[in-house]
Amino acid sequence: MSVSRRAWVAESLRAVAVSATGFIALLGLRAARPVRVRDRVVRVPADDHDKLTVIDDALVVRRGGQVRAFSLRCPHLGCKLSLDADERGLTCPCHGSRFDLDGNRISGPATRGLTELRVALTDSSAPSGR
Ligand code: FES
Repeated sequence: MSVSRRAWVAESLRAVAVSATGFIALLGLRAARPVRVRDRVVRVPADDHDKLTVIDDALVVRRGGQVRAFSLRCPHLGCKLSLDADERGLTCPCHGSRFDLDGNRISGPATRGLTELRVALTDSSAPSGR
């Protein structure tokens, strides 16, 4: 069986187009998720009841009996985020991306929300060590 050069080029271009479409669709699915949970664990003292706390480069948010932690690294290029003066959100000092306290992206250039981290409540009265 012989394949003409024109048919081979057309088939190759079609294969590249299908692969590129799949890759772009995958990127779109990732961007649609505003917050991802990573394996990193933030240890939060159980007896700390502040609404907002910064622990190990993570913002810990307590609301309605729920404790959540978000990386303070901007998902755009990794600058450290600052809590807004009114404590209602976070702003990146580098290019101005903004996020709410649920980790959702408010404005870019970041294309997704903050990375959510796992939380482990710890007993601050227990001796530290192993
Ligand atoms: S690094 Fe945060 S907006 Fe660019």
